[in-house]
Amino acid sequence: MSIEQLQDIARAMVAPGKGIIAIDESNATCKKRFDAVGVECTEENRRAYRELLLSTPGLSEHISGAILYDETIRQSRKDGTPFVKLMEQQGIIPGIKVDKGTVPLAGFPGEVVTEGLDGLRQRLEEYARIGAKFAKWRAVIHIGEDIPSGTCIEANCHALARYAALCQEQGLVPMVEPEVLMDGDHDIEVCYDVTEATLRSLFGALYEQNVMIEGTILKASMVISGKDCPQQATVEEVAEMTLRCLKATVPALLPGIVFLSGGQSDEAATAHLDAMNRMGPHPWPLSFSYGRAMQQAALKLWAQDMTGNYAAAQRAVAQRARENGLAALGKWSKAA
Ligand code: 13P
Repeated sequence: MSIEQLQDIARAMVAPGKGIIAIDESNATCKKRFDAVGVECTEENRRAYRELLLSTPGLSEHISGAILYDETIRQSRKDGTPFVKLMEQQGIIPGIKVDKGTVPLAGFPGEVVTEGLDGLRQRLEEYARIGAKFAKWRAVIHIGEDIPSGTCIEANCHALARYAALCQEQGLVPMVEPEVLMDGDHDIEVCYDVTEATLRSLFGALYEQNVMIEGTILKASMVISGKDCPQQATVEEVAEMTLRCLKATVPALLPGIVFLSGGQSDEAATAHLDAMNRMGPHPWPLSFSYGRAMQQAALKLWAQDMTGNYAAAQRAVAQRARENGLAALGKWSKAA
């Protein structure tokens, strides 16, 4: 696949007013989400729930793509239509999570590194055959006393760059996700410093591994106060500091940046994205790739009554897609 083709996919992922729905929870993470609303985490329930999300009427008006998990990309609708086919019919680009999660980083207590490089070339080949057009890898950076270490940042960014190069070799757009967690009582300045160091290291590693920036999407965490920080930054502060950090570190050549929601409320995730876009124009489209902030309202409704609330749950997803689509244009308002 040529760089032009990768670039076309990347651009379509961040088309104006559109973003990504992340439904790539591993079975363990899915169990956590289902447990919280009292749903049993069986393979059939996971399949039925993902079918509800992917078959939401009109989803592609504001959703360009969806990130699936290994189990999900092999699943089908109840009527036998493979999810990937359903997505093609809906006009939604199939993506796949390809990392294998985090493990403790040896010698660095409290820090983790993401695994999944061994055999990745073969797995990517298979996912591309099934129909995936992009792939996601998530690195996790914790903020705490004396962490993150430079070693942890470098190890994670090196792995992100290795995975990104393999994706492009197989004709998949890499969605590189270095998530700086919101957990902790640190203030927004600390989050800024850690995010800046992480993004600097990431783009250095991508260049070293010959990754084509024009065919890459960044999935970023926002620069935000720690969840337990007594002094919470305002929407404007989050937007300004996130933009400053991105402008200081991300090449203008990148086709787009999408944000994760990372535990923010639905409204905060939308308001922050909207505020950033109102401060534009920027060198890249800024959109969303939300998991929880796209799904939690729908999941709650479905959990209360799987049959009776089916349509209402789909309307909740469509509403979140519409609001975040407006925020991607800087045109959202609370009453929208
Ligand atoms: P959240 O938006 O729930 O953080 O999920 C996005 C994601 O894909 C994390 O890897």
